Amino acid sequence: MTIQFRQLFEPISSTYTYLLGCRESGLAVLIDPVLPAWRRDLEAVRALGLELAMTVETHIHADHITAAMQLKREAGSRIAAPAVDRLACADVALEEGKPLVVGRLAIEPLFTPGHTDDHHAYRVGERLFTGDALLIDGCGRTDFQNGDAATLYRSVHGKLFTLPDETLVYPGHDYQGRRVSSIGQEKARNPRLGGGRSLAEFEALMGKLGLAYPKFIDYAVPGNRQCGLCPEGVPEELQQYCEEMAHSPQG
Ligand SMILES: [Fe+2]
Repeated sequence: MTIQFRQLFEPISSTYTYLLGCRESGLAVLIDPVLPAWRRDLEAVRALGLELAMTVETHIHADHITAAMQLKREAGSRIAAPAVDRLACADVALEEGKPLVVGRLAIEPLFTPGHTDDHHAYRVGERLFTGDALLIDGCGRTDFQNGDAATLYRSVHGKLFTLPDETLVYPGHDYQGRRVSSIGQEKARNPRLGGGRSLAEFEALMGKLGLAYPKFIDYAVPGNRQCGLCPEGVPEELQQYCEEMAHSPQG
């Protein structure tokens, strides 16, 4: 089987969206599409001669609004989200132990709470889409959305770090242009979770990060619980999260 693959970057929230396509069936999936980039992402699917079958969320995001609903409107794709979110707007409820099959793609959900209480990573063959549970040389914060550092540590060490070292790690974000890592690399040198860091060390480190209040969370969370509707009252300076991104069409 040939998997078609693209890593797409949304610069407003520094989010990676992943396009996975199955050449045999002509069907594609987008993991964590972002609202301002919906048209570019749909064009990327179509440029490969594929039809967008589904969008898949790793968790309820606090830093951007998903394009799931917009893509459903425009392309008829179905919306898949973690079952624990109990979203009325979702078409498919995902849980660990029940692979999502699209054409010949088998997307294996891995329940990885800690950044948020609903977080799932997705494994597709040799690739692992880690959302915000595990970033390249980092991890998502654990101080909102029922996050918990000890829970995240157990998710990463007990689940993600038990995968083969050569598994490719594709994160939900990167703020420095890094694109891909591996389980072996993160186990060896992730400054928060790798290199033999203990649970107590990780909890202490996460407890003193002193990060600012997430500026878009009060709009993103309700918007994402509706699968990607921009709520009323988004202030002027945050409107870029809701508007379509300027883009140049692909050839
Ligand atoms: Fe997140």
